[in-house]
Amino acid sequence: MSVKGVVLHGGFGTRLRPLTHTGPKQLIKVAGKPVSQWVLEDLRDAGVKDIAVILGELGPDRVIEYYGDGSWLGVNLTYIYQGYPYGLAHAVYLVKSFVGDEPFIVYLGDNVLAEGISEHTKRFLESDLDALILLSQVPDPRKFGVAQFDDKGRLVKLVEKPKEPPSNFALVGVYFFRPPHIFKAIEAIKPSWRGELEITDAIQKLIDWRLKVGYSIVKGWWKDTGTPEDIIEVNRLLLDHKYPMSIVKGRVEQGSLVEGRVYIDEGAVIEGRAVIRGPAYIGKNTIIKDGSYIGPYTSIGDNCIIQDVEIENSVIMDNVVIEGNGLRIVDSLIGSSTRIKRRSSRPSGHRLIVGENTLIEL
Ligand code: G1P
Repeated sequence: MSVKGVVLHGGFGTRLRPLTHTGPKQLIKVAGKPVSQWVLEDLRDAGVKDIAVILGELGPDRVIEYYGDGSWLGVNLTYIYQGYPYGLAHAVYLVKSFVGDEPFIVYLGDNVLAEGISEHTKRFLESDLDALILLSQVPDPRKFGVAQFDDKGRLVKLVEKPKEPPSNFALVGVYFFRPPHIFKAIEAIKPSWRGELEITDAIQKLIDWRLKVGYSIVKGWWKDTGTPEDIIEVNRLLLDHKYPMSIVKGRVEQGSLVEGRVYIDEGAVIEGRAVIRGPAYIGKNTIIKDGSYIGPYTSIGDNCIIQDVEIENSVIMDNVVIEGNGLRIVDSLIGSSTRIKRRSSRPSGHRLIVGENTLIEL
């Protein structure tokens, strides 16, 4: 018996507007790959081959266009349309016939885990648990599902976004299930105050029904990427964690300076006296021109032209053109096909969070 995967790729991504006006947030590239590609690769590395991708109303065609049948990633993808987002439990219910009687892993397409899920998958498959949840200690659990334990450390309750959290243990967006109970539980729950069928409430039902619900605490960091700040942070974490050494596939011209850990993809060119100081990621066919400084914790997408600009701790997506005239960009998230042009050279700092197809002249 194998294990199947389910990646949730819907939602409105309201906190990431305007970037999410033109596509789902899970396709935002961090450290060279869309967030949901890190998710799919994690599932693949845990031995999951057959994966259903649940699509929302926002740019589902973009997801299919990017991932295709998944063979280039070594997985086999099936697309299922959710349409209107009635909640995570509603999305999970849609995979009932896809999973059949096989165990399955639900992975929210905007969650990233440092250590991945291989170890947890192994534990779940070797167990007889009906469900396994992952928990992570966070400073402010109010924006997550939160676990409550009894004095023997047993899981007794799960509450979604509580005002007064019973612990600091947040529910990570990765869930392991064995049919059929979870589907029965989803049938039994009612929409929450936010009008959604919550997966947290469905798992609570499993606990109420005295079924076997286990938990594991994740090692290393876990990040859910709902806001621009989250994207910039997860980019930093991934650059540190996933690229332990420099890889230069592109061309670094004499006179330019590349130091620290950098990934320079195929066809990229570092020209003139440009400086790249890692950790940094430079995408395919991107040209970093003379006078540019790409500072630590910056990822630049594919096919960008970056000229005479300093960029630090930022995420720049594909097809972006910046003619900086000495401009300095920090802590920024810049959507695809944006053009930024500075007319004169005045020393100043700018913070930009802008969407796709934007033209900015400063
Ligand atoms: C969802 C879950 C929540 C979980 C979180 C993890 O929240 O409902 O329990 O802690 O994902 O990312 P949402 O992203 O829908 O607000």
